[in-house]
Amino acid sequence: MAQSYETLLLEVDESGICTLTINRPDKLNALNSLVLEELDNAVDAIKENYKIKSVVITGAGEKAFVAGADIKELSTLDPVSGEKVSKRGQDVFQKIEDLTIPVIAAVNGYALGGGCELAMACHLRIASNKAALGLPEVSLGLIPGYGGTQRLTKLVGRAKALEFIMTGRQVTAEEAFEVGLVNQVTEHSAVDEVKSMLNKIMKQGPVAIKNALLAVKEADSANGFEAEARLFGELCGTADFKEGTGAFLEKRKPNFSGK
Ligand code: COA
Repeated sequence: MAQSYETLLLEVDESGICTLTINRPDKLNALNSLVLEELDNAVDAIKENYKIKSVVITGAGEKAFVAGADIKELSTLDPVSGEKVSKRGQDVFQKIEDLTIPVIAAVNGYALGGGCELAMACHLRIASNKAALGLPEVSLGLIPGYGGTQRLTKLVGRAKALEFIMTGRQVTAEEAFEVGLVNQVTEHSAVDEVKSMLNKIMKQGPVAIKNALLAVKEADSANGFEAEARLFGELCGTADFKEGTGAFLEKRKPNFSGK
């Protein structure tokens, strides 16, 4: 990829998996305004690159996925700039969630505050058994501001979300799995485990995966069932649908074209 970044690493392998690594290991990959800006640009670059079929988001180094928004920067905020910064983080994370190819967080260590919020903006999360997750913003006199109050509530329910947010406590990967905050816990490399899941997903019909992401997103809206029927119908006109059903009937493996 032509563009280069100061705080991110972007790598695309031959199967079309893009690994996006937040790369400030000396600050446990804390999200400062430059990281957010570069993340924003990186998501645009991913959208424009037809070779990219899926994305892993992870953190550089052994210790952290992302240890939160940059507290040094946060400490200077006032009510006006604070609201703006929160909205900016929300917008960038929404852009990640809105990607129509699968995006999975490989949570390799601390995923705290904005780091946990970044992981929650990904479609799925796989955590190393050494990871620790949490929303400790109340310990700074704040609340989560990059979508965490909304996404955690949807993922784990209101009572658990309020417990995590009001205590600010760190939870183990195992507890995060038990409450539904992460999809899987691994003793191995979270990145390898994510790639293995992405390889399974990428064997399915790509247009179906896109429409699955779009349909599930509508689960929050009043028109969810209508959207599901429309997206289902749309798929019935695709070459992938003909290939998938044809392959089943002919007792062979499908070879999807993504059309
Ligand atoms: N913002 C800015 N800098 C951060 C950071 C953050 N969120 N998290 C860690 N860092 C920096 C530390 O200041 C330190 O920098 P320094 O070496 O220049 O002093 C470096 O990263 C290493 O962190 P350190 O605290 O020394 O590591 P640790 O192993 O002792 O503790 C944590 C790890 C994650 C428990 C601790 O760093 C922490 O509590 N971080 C903040 C978590 C948080 O509140 N996040 C929510 C923000 S919204």
